[in-house]
Amino acid sequence: MSELTRVWPMPGESSSDSMAIADWYAVEDRSQPWLRMNFVTSADGGVTVDGLSGGLGTDADHTVFDALRTLADVIIVGAGTIRAEGYGPMRVDAVEERIARGLPEQPVFAIVSHRLDLDPESAIFTEAPVRPIVLTCDAADAGRRARLSDVADVLECGAERVEGAAMRAALAARGLPQMHSEGGPHLFGDLVRDDAVDELCLTVSPTLVGGAATRILAGDDQTLRSLSLAHVVAAGDGTLLLRYVRA
Ligand SMILES: NC(=O)c1ccc[n+]([C@@H]2O[C@H](COP(=O)([O-])OP(=O)(O)OC[C@H]3O[C@@H](n4cnc5c(N)ncnc54)[C@H](OP(=O)(O)O)[C@@H]3O)[C@@H](O)[C@H]2O)c1
Repeated sequence: MSELTRVWPMPGESSSDSMAIADWYAVEDRSQPWLRMNFVTSADGGVTVDGLSGGLGTDADHTVFDALRTLADVIIVGAGTIRAEGYGPMRVDAVEERIARGLPEQPVFAIVSHRLDLDPESAIFTEAPVRPIVLTCDAADAGRRARLSDVADVLECGAERVEGAAMRAALAARGLPQMHSEGGPHLFGDLVRDDAVDELCLTVSPTLVGGAATRILAGDDQTLRSLSLAHVVAAGDGTLLLRYVRA
C-alpha cells in the first residue's frame, strides 16, 4: 500500500495504514444521513480511458477507494456504470476493519436504474453476500420490477427517475445512513441537481487523456454548486486526493 500524506490542512500526517487512512474520511456522527460520492479523473478532467475508469486508477486511488467502501453502510452505483465496468457482487476485503468499527461484515449494494435492464440471474444478485437493493422509480416496468424482487429489495424513490431526497430517506429508514456512491456521471448529475450530495472525494490522477471522455458530472443542465475543501492528500507518484464537502 502506498504512503499517503495529508498536505492540507496543516500540519499534515503520513500513513500507509488502511485503518488510519479510513479514519481521515470518517464522519463524526454515523447516525446522520450522509451521501458521499467518489470519482477519479485525469488532470484534464476526463473520467474514462477507452470507456473505463481503470486506466486512471493509481495505488493511492485504490487505497482510498477501498477505505471509502470500508466505511459505508450502502454502496450506490448507477446501472450505466455497472454495465460499463462489469460490476460483480459487492464484497469488500476489509472485513476485520469493518468489524473493529462495529459495522456488519459487508455493506449493502444498491443499484440505481429506471429501465431495470438487469439480469436477476447475474452474480451481482446470485452471489451477493447481502441481499442487494434496486433503487428505481414508479414509471419502471412492472414485470422487470417483479422479477428483480425475487433477488433484491426494490425501492421506488421518485416518479420518473430516482430522486435524491427520496433515495436518502429510503436508505436511512432501512438503517443505512452512511451512503457511498461510486457514480457514475449521470447519477451524480441527478443527485447534485437534487442537492442531495454531502461530500465529493475526487482523485486527480497524474495523467492526461483528451478525446471524448466525459467529466464526473453529466446531464443537460448546468449546475453551479459551491464546495468547501475538507482536506488534500498527496501520494509520492503525484496522485492528489481531494475531499470536498457542502459549502
Ligand atoms: N472515473 C470514475 O471515477 C468513474 C466512476 C463511475 C463511472 N465512470 C464511467 O462513467 C461511464 C458511465 O457513465 P454514466 O453516466 O452512464 O453512468 P451512470 O450514472 O452510472 O449510469 C446511468 C444509468 O444509471 C441509471 N440512473 C442514473 N441516474 C438515475 C436516476 N436518477 N434515476 C434512475 N436511474 C438512474 C440509468 O440506468 P437505466 O438505463 O438502467 O435506467 C442510467 O441510464 C462508464 O464509462 C464508467 O466507466 C467513471
